[in-house]
Amino acid sequence: MLKLEGKIRNRSAQIGIVGLGYVGLPLAMAFSEAGFKVLGFDVQQKRADWVNQGHSYIADVSAERLQTAIAHNLKATTEQSRLKETDAVCICVPTPLTKTKDPDLSYVISESEEIAKYLRPGQLIVLESTTYPGTTREVVLPILERSGLKAGADFYLAFSPERVDPGNKDYSIRNTPKIVGGIDLPSTKLAKLLYQQVAESVIPVSCPEVAEMTKVFENVFRSVNIALVNELAQLCERMGISVWEVIAAATTKPFGYMPFYPGPGIGGHCIPLDPYYLANKAREHDFHTRFIELAAEINEGMPYHVTSRITEALNARGRSLNDARVLVLGVAYKKDVEDVRESPSLKLIELLQDKGATVKYNDPYIPKIRLPRGELTSVKLTKQNLSSADCVVIATAHSCYNMDEVITQAKLVFDARGATRGLKGDNIVRLGE
Ligand SMILES: NC(=O)c1ccc[n+]([C@@H]2O[C@H](COP(=O)([O-])OP(=O)(O)OC[C@H]3O[C@@H](n4cnc5c(N)ncnc54)[C@H](O)[C@@H]3O)[C@@H](O)[C@H]2O)c1
Repeated sequence: MLKLEGKIRNRSAQIGIVGLGYVGLPLAMAFSEAGFKVLGFDVQQKRADWVNQGHSYIADVSAERLQTAIAHNLKATTEQSRLKETDAVCICVPTPLTKTKDPDLSYVISESEEIAKYLRPGQLIVLESTTYPGTTREVVLPILERSGLKAGADFYLAFSPERVDPGNKDYSIRNTPKIVGGIDLPSTKLAKLLYQQVAESVIPVSCPEVAEMTKVFENVFRSVNIALVNELAQLCERMGISVWEVIAAATTKPFGYMPFYPGPGIGGHCIPLDPYYLANKAREHDFHTRFIELAAEINEGMPYHVTSRITEALNARGRSLNDARVLVLGVAYKKDVEDVRESPSLKLIELLQDKGATVKYNDPYIPKIRLPRGELTSVKLTKQNLSSADCVVIATAHSCYNMDEVITQAKLVFDARGATRGLKGDNIVRLGE
């Protein structure tokens, strides 16, 4: 313990970050900027090369910052044998779902196997990937112990969930409190000390299971609240009330309320996936997480609901969706990011195409998308493209979109994000109204 503690305190510890994606690359930058030698690992050669060339592929990390880090103390590699050079390893690999929406821990498992090959006494291993409670102790620990070393006695092991919010300019690793839960007290203390070098506030919890559950609970909380407001939006449509006005009014309450907004569905690598990790694990305990299932049902139904509303809006103007020209604005899963993972816009376009619409899209962040019916390329947001569409759908309201211009040019605007609220036009139809 003392050796690694001293090395963290005097910043001579070498930090290994495994998985240089949305989570791993910003974390690698944070340790590098705190003065640590950082070795980033990725299975994709091109990612390791890009990092070493100072070419950033993650919007939250500027090329300038990356180049400074490369010149000082950050290197990337695909050679897992170099794990033995590191003193602490943070695992930031993907935790997707299988086609049947079961947890796919294959990345966590294969990386744990790699780490086990090179594990040496005194190392600290921290899992950051979002997963169900029990993964660190039941899955990672036994694999690491195949090395012959014992957790707690020979090496330290903890779980510390990443809370990065891509595109958020107010909260970064530094000012977002970090939760750590080790398999024993020394592991928790070391993990706490490690993250204190890059985060202003580190909150230790009693065990990895609490830390794992905290992360999934945070994401379930968002999923459930978004589902609640998506359901309310549908009720407001029936009752002739504007959900947007209701949310704005409710938001004036200074306590006991926090706003969530309806939309065409949920996306990203976290909210649509992580609740299933918990739901799946709960079944091992003969427990059914009804809120999770219900929220998923409502949220996953939203692209279908939006498709119906677009159909109705076209019908009301004597047009059918079949053969209609639809221009979708925004395919990223949320505004101002370049990430399409699980984006509800993709499902929406697929459904519109299934109904016979000819769909084009614009997204300044996403040049191409791949769909079951083939690839689409982002079109320019010209007067011609806006005015020739039978319906322009605001699916992701990027800040750069000029809504006045969209409303002026388009024949019909279906606004699935409330981006036009406050603006007037007979050609606007909004979700939740
Ligand atoms: N993206 C987010 O906003 C976010 C937020 C909080 C938590 N998380 C969680 O963090 C984890 C990582 O998510 P992400 O968005 O950074 O994923 P990502 O796909 O952007 O990055 C993962 C990287 O890991 C690499 N990788 C896969 N297997 C590897 C291995 N064995 N060794 C080395 N590299 C490997 C991939 O090539 C990829 O570059 C997930 O569990 C996710 O749920 C993500």
